[in-house]
Amino acid sequence: MIADIHHARDAALHEIEQAPTLDAIVALQARLTGKRSELALLKTGLGGLESVDERREAGRVLNEAMDAVVEALARRREALESEALDIRLAAERLDLTETIGRPRRGHAHLVTQAWERLEDVFVGMGFQVAEGPEVETDWHNFEALNMGEGHPARGEFDTLFVDHVPPGGRAGSTVLRTHTSPVQIRTMLAGAPPIYIVAPGRVFRRDTPDATHMPVFHQIEGLVVDRGISMAHLAGTIDAFTKAFFGQDFSSRLRPSYFPFTEPSAEFDIQLPNGQWLELGGCGMVHPAVLRAGGIDPEEWSGFAFGFGIDRMAVMRHGVGDIREMFSNDIRFIEQF
Ligand code: PHE
Repeated sequence: MIADIHHARDAALHEIEQAPTLDAIVALQARLTGKRSELALLKTGLGGLESVDERREAGRVLNEAMDAVVEALARRREALESEALDIRLAAERLDLTETIGRPRRGHAHLVTQAWERLEDVFVGMGFQVAEGPEVETDWHNFEALNMGEGHPARGEFDTLFVDHVPPGGRAGSTVLRTHTSPVQIRTMLAGAPPIYIVAPGRVFRRDTPDATHMPVFHQIEGLVVDRGISMAHLAGTIDAFTKAFFGQDFSSRLRPSYFPFTEPSAEFDIQLPNGQWLELGGCGMVHPAVLRAGGIDPEEWSGFAFGFGIDRMAVMRHGVGDIREMFSNDIRFIEQF
């Protein structure tokens, strides 16, 4: 009897070891552990044994054999499952290695590169990035910036108008924003000071394209509103930015100028290591009327703002002769940068 049990167990273990697939394991499980299995049949034979001791011993061996079979089935199943998983993973693996010729990698456009670097530098200085819509109301683009209807400064922004009359509004009061300065107003209206933001974005003016002008271009606006902000903070910020963006051997200066939305106002230039000065943009202390339009009390808060062209900076940095080149989408030009 004992020998028969051992024999049945060894045969079963051998079959399990050889099972080639999970399906085979399922079939074996039924055949080796079910009611008609050899071990089960041997169990029914236990009753025919003469002595109690013999029966008890055979029963014990039989149980051990059954346990061994069940355990072997589980182990083989596990092995086959992990094998199947390995095979599936190998089949689903994507080989992303470029093997044909020289790999061609794309990159961000020159203007995007400059835009992102500008954001990085200002974020590094503690500014947050804000944005506003490209289609603006006359109020945000002009009126709230201290350029009421008929203000002569409006003439300097060759404005593109949109055929859209807002509910309750009047014809001609929707424009493509001519600068990023309306984001100043939107930011002030959206939250209380202190405000430290930069707002890069696309702006539009009715200009004929030439070597230095495009009707669509990019600016970055800066706005700081806090207690006790002075012109010294403005000058210091512009200089810190100049050195962080262009390099330690660059410096900056402010020249008196005029903008309706800042008072006093200035243009700022940067000086290249070769001594040459380049005009970069406009800036100044935020005009009290502008703070008021933004819902901020000019008796309590003061601030400065600046704005400059991103495209022009990219052109300068890479020595591009004609700004139109940047938007020609000529791959031979774009690939150089
Ligand atoms: N918005 C002005 C322009 O487009 C630049 C500017 C911004 C000037 C902020 C002063 C303060 O010319």
